[in-house]
Amino acid sequence: MTQHAMNNIPNHVAIIMDGNGRWANVRGLPRSMGHRKGVEAVREAVRTAAEAGIGYLTLFAFSSENWSRPESEVSDLMGLLKTFIRRDLDSLHRENVRIRVIGDRTNLRSDILPLLLEAEERTRDNTAITLVIAFNYGSRDEIARAMRSIAGDVAAGLLHPADVSPDLISARLDTAGIPDPDLIIRTSGEERLSNFLLWQAAYAELMFIPDFWPDFTRATFLAALAAYAGRERRFGGVPAATLAVGS
Ligand code: FPP
Repeated sequence: MTQHAMNNIPNHVAIIMDGNGRWANVRGLPRSMGHRKGVEAVREAVRTAAEAGIGYLTLFAFSSENWSRPESEVSDLMGLLKTFIRRDLDSLHRENVRIRVIGDRTNLRSDILPLLLEAEERTRDNTAITLVIAFNYGSRDEIARAMRSIAGDVAAGLLHPADVSPDLISARLDTAGIPDPDLIIRTSGEERLSNFLLWQAAYAELMFIPDFWPDFTRATFLAALAAYAGRERRFGGVPAATLAVGS
């Protein structure tokens, strides 16, 4: 399938990249090898998304709950993210990719935060695709931080309680300015959102793919996009065909 043959491309795809550990396990390899292969799948996914004309690709790189993993695995994941940014920032920038990071930035290690800020700063005017990296991200934490900021403004008299609307809440989330995801994909066969983009997922199509993340290829991605194109989204309304016939 070529990109020209595809229509109804989602503007925003978000992916829960699950199954790195199991990919390694079934091969008798250490989990770290699964994460390494996972980074290769990340590169391929970004390229495929840009070619397909997707506007925003969000990747769940590290959740606020991932800190509970063994220290060696946490530092391995941190190391991979650092290497990814150091090694790939130039080429991502050349390919006109804009990088945004969502998640809690307070108390991030001093060797990570500056890299994330540099990636955002250098690529801020790029226009091909926005790669949103969810790092130290948890949806409930994000919503709580947004609520704290709104409550602060209400207490200071800058906002009235009646001003609190869905749009205002969206504008206070880490994803401010980023359209809601149209399609959320989770790999590895697990069928949960796991505290990922809970508010933003209100009308997203959900897709659960059996492959482990390191096996998520360009072909898998294109097949998911083709399946998405065949779904009908109603946003709480009625099917367009019913309207045409019935009213
Ligand atoms: C889930 O597999 C994956 C993660 C917790 C991390 C995903 C991170 C990467 C692919 C690398 C770094 C990211 C970027 C953007 C460069 P799992 O370990 O939970 O697998 P399991 O459920 O099989 O144990």
